[in-house]
Amino acid sequence: MQKAIRCLRAGSLVAFPTETVYGLGADATNPDAVCKIFETKKRPVFNPLIVHVHSFAAAKSLWKKTPAIVHTLADHFWPGPLTLVLPKSDIIPDIVTAGLPTVAVRIPRHPVALELLRLFGGPIAAPSANLFGSTSPTSALAVAESLGRSVPIILDGGASGVGLESTVVKVEPNGELTLLRPGGVGLEELEALNKKIKIDTRPHQGILESPGQLTTHYAPRTPMVLLEREWRKMQKDVLRLHGGFARASRRWPKIGILTLREDKTPISPATKRLALSADGSLHEVAFNLFEGIRKLDKMGLDLLAVETCPERGIGFAVMDRLNRASSGKKGLIGLLITEYCRET
Ligand code: TXA
Ligand code: MG
Repeated sequence: MQKAIRCLRAGSLVAFPTETVYGLGADATNPDAVCKIFETKKRPVFNPLIVHVHSFAAAKSLWKKTPAIVHTLADHFWPGPLTLVLPKSDIIPDIVTAGLPTVAVRIPRHPVALELLRLFGGPIAAPSANLFGSTSPTSALAVAESLGRSVPIILDGGASGVGLESTVVKVEPNGELTLLRPGGVGLEELEALNKKIKIDTRPHQGILESPGQLTTHYAPRTPMVLLEREWRKMQKDVLRLHGGFARASRRWPKIGILTLREDKTPISPATKRLALSADGSLHEVAFNLFEGIRKLDKMGLDLLAVETCPERGIGFAVMDRLNRASSGKKGLIGLLITEYCRET
C-alpha cells in the first residue's frame, strides 16, 4: 500500500480492486499521470474517465454545484457501484473528462480502494484496468493478463464482488437524471427514489458521452452470439446441425456455451459448457460473467454462445454487456445453418 501511494504521488499508475471491476488509477489532478492511463489502455482520448474519491465532501469539491438529489443518491448508494456525472469544478484537468464540461465521480465500496484513496488523500482517476474494448478485469490476475508489465503495481483484493461496472447517471442542474450506462445499481432501485429517469445508453452522434455506449465493447476475441432460447431446449437441434457441419467440413465446430445455471445433460465432446451460476441467480451471473467469457475465450473455440437473462435488476446491465460483446448478434441455429450451407 505504501509503495502504491508513492507510485501515485510520483505520477505512476496503480491497478487496484473495486467492488465492480479492477481500476487502473492515476492522480486525477496530474495531467501527465492521467495521460499514462490512455497510453497503457490504448484508449481513445475522447473517452472520459471516472474519478474515485473516499468521501462525499471530496466528491462535492469536484463539482460546481451539488443538487439535492445527489445527496439522496449518495446517502443510498455510496460507497457503491453508482457513478454520478455533473458539471466539473476547476480541480479536474480537461484530459480526465476528455474536454467535457462534466466529471464522473464515485465512492467505491471496497476496503482496499477506500484505504488507497484515504491514504493518498486526493481523487484517483481510474477506468477499468484492461486494454480498450475488451472485457473488464474482475481479478488481479486478469489485470496482469491484460496489461502485463505496463502497470508497475497491481493491488490484489480478491475477486470483485459485483463483477460488472458501475451504473453511470448524469445529473442535470435541475435534478433530472439520465442513465448513461446500466451497472451494479439496478434501474428499479434508482426509480424507487426518483420516478423520472431518462435512459440514453445509445452511442451519441458526434460527442460520445460514455465509452460503455459504444456498440462493440467488452468483446472477446472469439466471435460471440446470443442464444435464441434456453440452451437445455436447443441442444438437440444444435447437435443435428453439428453433425451436418462435421460431415461437410470434416471437423466439429468448437462451440463454447455460457449458461445461466448448472446443467448436467450430456453434450458433444467439441462443446465446452460453463455455468454462470448454480441456479440462475442474476447477481451470481453478473459476478461470474467477465471471468466466464475470458475463460472460454482462452480455449481456442470457433464460437461462443451465451444464454440471455431477464432485463431486471442487475440483469439489465448483464444484457447490456452481452449485447455489446456480441455486437447484438442473435441466434446460434441460424448461424450454424449459414455456416453449414457455406461449407457444403
Ligand atoms: O465500475 C466502474 O465504473 C469501473 C471502476 C474501476 O470504478 N470503472 C469503469 O471505468 O468502468 P470506464 O472508464 O471503463 O468507464 C467509465 C464510464 C464510461 O462509460 C464513460 O464514458 C463514463 O463513465 N463517463 C466518464 N466521464 C463521463 C462524463 N463526463 N460524461 C459522461 N460519461 C462519462
Ligand atoms: Mg471499461
